[in-house]
Amino acid sequence: MGLDFEGKKSGGRNIPLKVGKNYFKKNYFMEWDPEGEMSPDRYLYAKERRYVMQLSPIKRGDRVLDLGAGRGRFSLEFARKGVTVVGVDISKNMVMLTKEAALRSGQSANINLVLCDAESLPFRRDTFDLINFVELIMHLPKPQKTLHEIGRVLKPHKHMILGCGGLNYRVIFYTVLMYLRLCPKIARWYRPQNISEMLKKANFQILRVRGVAYFPPIYVRIARNPSKVPLIPLRISMIFNHLDSVLERLPVVRWTALIMVLLCRGRKEC
Ligand SMILES: C[S@@+](CC[C@H](N)C(=O)[O-])C[C@H]1O[C@@H](n2cnc3c(N)ncnc32)[C@H](O)[C@@H]1O
Repeated sequence: MGLDFEGKKSGGRNIPLKVGKNYFKKNYFMEWDPEGEMSPDRYLYAKERRYVMQLSPIKRGDRVLDLGAGRGRFSLEFARKGVTVVGVDISKNMVMLTKEAALRSGQSANINLVLCDAESLPFRRDTFDLINFVELIMHLPKPQKTLHEIGRVLKPHKHMILGCGGLNYRVIFYTVLMYLRLCPKIARWYRPQNISEMLKKANFQILRVRGVAYFPPIYVRIARNPSKVPLIPLRISMIFNHLDSVLERLPVVRWTALIMVLLCRGRKEC
């Protein structure tokens, strides 16, 4: 038996989120810079972004909602594809950072930013052609509430992209740190069957699952500065890269990737 949608115990062990929404409203913008110069996981998140874009069924003129837009890396990328983007975030600082990034990249005309909670979206039903729901579900106290909102504002039979951690050593490592109170309990990871149950209950059908990398991103940190890299680590990093791309093709192991990207379709009737 797995966890229920609010993450309460129902057979498995789970960590309640100890920091409330205020943590995201106030502090989190200083921590989250996934593809920034200093991020050790830069390669991993850039790969995630690439896969999200590859899986996203969009065409020019579509309306895309970027939920929990953060620093706007997806909003910018979607806007570049000629769609109209609405990026929402609960953090004023994140919204400001995205606004600045949109201005810098000349995409501000195509990106609207809204400061709000993903659990209660200020949009009419059947508004969006695609909803990007990446790297957010694990931070939500009531993910089923947000999935319900997504189902409401998504046009009938249109798509959602869900991105979150798979069942892997990294997630287990952070979960242990949180149990030991060595880092704040800001996230709660779900087992694959919990994710599918959640999606089924919210009336979403999973069309594709894509795994994003299996090996620790640290090897890429070494390889990013090739002039300083002795030959062997560079070779090792290439072996890991190669193994990643082989594993990513195997359906059975996808749920154990460092990140999973799921393409889902809403089943709502017209
Ligand atoms: C891990 S970051 C991911 C950002 C972005 N999706 C990305 O992948 O780069 C999570 C984002 O969700 C926002 N967030 C957290 N709780 C939220 C909520 N209840 N409603 C809207 N945004 C929220 C945070 O402020 C943060 O910007």
